[in-house]
Amino acid sequence: MAEALTVADEPMLFDRLESEPTDALLQLIALAKADPRPDKIDVGVGVYRDAAGGTPILRAVKAAERILVETQETKAYLGSAGDTRFVDLIRPIVFGEKGARDERIVGVQTPGGCGALRLGADLIDKANSDARIFVGQPTWPNHGPLIECAGVEMVKVPYYDTRSRRILFDEMMEALKEARPGDLVLLHGCCHNPTGADLSLDQWREVADFIARRGLVPYVDLAYQGLGNGLEADAQGTRLVVEAAEQALVAQSCDKNFGVYRERTGSLFVKASSKAGAETVFGNLLQLARTMWSMPPDHGAAIVHTILDDPELRADWNAELKEMCARIRSLRARLSAYDERLAFIDRQNGMFSMLPLSRDAVLELRESHGIYMADSGRFNVVGLSDENVDRFAAAVVEKLDG
Ligand SMILES: Cc1ncc(COP(=O)(O)O)c(C=O)c1O
Repeated sequence: MAEALTVADEPMLFDRLESEPTDALLQLIALAKADPRPDKIDVGVGVYRDAAGGTPILRAVKAAERILVETQETKAYLGSAGDTRFVDLIRPIVFGEKGARDERIVGVQTPGGCGALRLGADLIDKANSDARIFVGQPTWPNHGPLIECAGVEMVKVPYYDTRSRRILFDEMMEALKEARPGDLVLLHGCCHNPTGADLSLDQWREVADFIARRGLVPYVDLAYQGLGNGLEADAQGTRLVVEAAEQALVAQSCDKNFGVYRERTGSLFVKASSKAGAETVFGNLLQLARTMWSMPPDHGAAIVHTILDDPELRADWNAELKEMCARIRSLRARLSAYDERLAFIDRQNGMFSMLPLSRDAVLELRESHGIYMADSGRFNVVGLSDENVDRFAAAVVEKLDG
C-alpha cells in the first residue's frame, strides 16, 4: 500500500504568496470615477484626452481596421519577430533614413513598450548578468519592476528636482561616472514620464559623448514620439546617442502616438558592434521572445503597418498626431501663462509634468476641488480641458510648495 505523505503543517502552494499592494494609479482612476461631482478633474490617468474628455480611436486607425477586415486573409502565426514590415516601417521614424540603413541595428515587434523594455532587460541579463542599468530619478514607476524582474540590477541616479523645477544634469553626469564599461544608461527619448523635463540637444550631445568614451550602452525608452515637439524633433536625442554608442537598445511604443494603447504595439531595436553581431542578437531576441509571449499580438502592428504603407492614411495619421501635440502644447502654454510659478510647464514636453506639492496638498485638492492627481504631484496636462484649465491652475498655485 502507498505510504500517505504527512503534509498537515505545510501551507499549500498559493498559500505561500503574500498579497501585493494595488497599483496606486489604478486606485486613483477608480476613486476619480466614483466621485459624483460633475466638475471633477481627472489628471491622474495616463492616456491622451481630447477637448471633449474622451480618448477616441484615430480616424486613420479606424480606416486601417476597415481595410484589415476586408482584406486580411489569414490569422496564421507570423513568428517570434512579429510583423517584420511593421518593424521596417518604424525604423526610419525612430532612426531617420540614414540610421534606418545601419545593418548593425536589428528589431523585433513586441507587445507594447513594456514588452520591449522587458525583452531588452532579458537580453542584457543573458549577455552579462553583472551588467547594471543606471536610471535617473524619478522615473516611470514600471521601469524598476520591468528591469529587476529580468534579474538586472538597477542603480538610481539623480535626474530632476521637483521643487526647483530643473534637471539635475551635473549631478546625473557625476553619478554616471560610477558606471563600468558595458553598463547601461536608461534614457527617456522624449516626453519624460513623470516629469516632462527632457534633456536639451546640447545635453544629449554631452551624454552621447560620455557614453561613447566610457563604453556604456544607452537604453532609450521612446514611448511618446510625436507628442512633444513632433516626430522628427522628438527623435533627435535618441539618434544622437545611438549613433555615438557602439551598442545600444531602443524600446519603442506606438500605443500613444497611434492611440492603440490596448492593442500592445511596440518594438525593440538593438544596435550591435557589427552586422554579424546584430544577427546573433536577433537570434537571441527570437529565443527570448519565444519563452515569454512566443509571438506578439498582431492587430496593433497590422493597423500601424497598414497606415504607414498607405500615403493617404499616413498623411491623416500625421495630421491627427500634430493635432494631439498641438493640444498638449496649448494646454501647457495656458498653465504657464496663469502664474510665474507654473512657467516651467511650457518648457516641458508630453503629457506629464510634476507639481511641487506635498502629499497633504494633493489629498486636499482631491477632497475640496475634486482634482485627482498622483501622490507624487504628477499630473496629465491633457486630462485638462479649455474650460477647467484656469480653475485647475488657481487651485494648485494656492498649494504649491515653493
Ligand atoms: C515612459 C514609458 N515607457 C513605456 C511605457 C509602456 O508603454 P506601452 O503601453 O506601450 O507598454 C509607458 C506607458 O505608460 C511609459 O510611460
